Amino acid sequence: MTDRYVVIGHPVAHSQSPRIHAMFAAQTGQDIAYDKLLAPVDGFKDAVRQFVSGGGRGANVTLPFKLEAYELADTLSERARYARAANTLSFAGGQIAADNTDGVGLVQDIETNLEFRLKARDVLLMGAGGAARGVLLPLLQAGPATLVIANRTVEKAVQLVESIQHGATGRVRVSACGFDQLPGQQFDVVVNATSSSLSDALPPLPDDLFAPGALAYDMMYGKGLTSFLAFAEARNVERLADGLGMLVEQAAESFRIWRGVRPETRPVMRALRKG
Ligand code: ATR
Repeated sequence: MTDRYVVIGHPVAHSQSPRIHAMFAAQTGQDIAYDKLLAPVDGFKDAVRQFVSGGGRGANVTLPFKLEAYELADTLSERARYARAANTLSFAGGQIAADNTDGVGLVQDIETNLEFRLKARDVLLMGAGGAARGVLLPLLQAGPATLVIANRTVEKAVQLVESIQHGATGRVRVSACGFDQLPGQQFDVVVNATSSSLSDALPPLPDDLFAPGALAYDMMYGKGLTSFLAFAEARNVERLADGLGMLVEQAAESFRIWRGVRPETRPVMRALRKG
């Protein structure tokens, strides 16, 4: 029997996940069906239970349910525990296992696809909401020299830094600040994990934020450059990346968790770029 998977969200119509997983399945010869599941805003847990009782094997979870997915789980990966959010659920033996593949997706996209090593670099993570927290552990594990978390509400960045457990940072120097403290600092990698691009807004950033050869990475993606990437391009940053690669990489990691085989991501990214 074909194993069934879904992406659960609200809204979910826009999700590219079914297309991505269909390409992964064709490429690896895995017999799966992957659909969209629109859950009512107050009906996530019921939707999951119903899907599980119908024989569902796994689910990706998108906004606004990642925290509820984390709460619903019987077991959590370290990454999910750290993120306090889950985007990947596996159903077996009456148990719900949760993982979070967003951070691995980001790091994999930066290091493998963009061939940009994070080790010993100075990294700025902008934002301190769910998106930033979701990628924090894998970013730390990549071993940058420094990780600065900047947020409009400084207190949230401070709390995020304080939440980092002793031992996870290795030798990474981690600090929190507001955007007004960025002037005078330069970074090799700037990751936009704020939702500002959604509203075509931009945090107030200094002109000399980017070190020579820097990478500007926006976790959002869409048609054309996001406002953050346009800002970077106007400051002569040559290495610009949106979140499409991260989307495909986080999906590949979910697929690996479920099926035990990691698909090739480049052909899928090429297909999505074509539209
Ligand atoms: P997400 O799950 O996408 O991270 P979130 O938890 O609501 O959503 O967090 C949104 C993040 O984007 C926050 O860091 C928010 O800053 P505040 O904590 O100060 O609210 C940030 N953000 C949203 N719009 C922004 C803007 N126009 N300028 C700067 N930061 C913005």
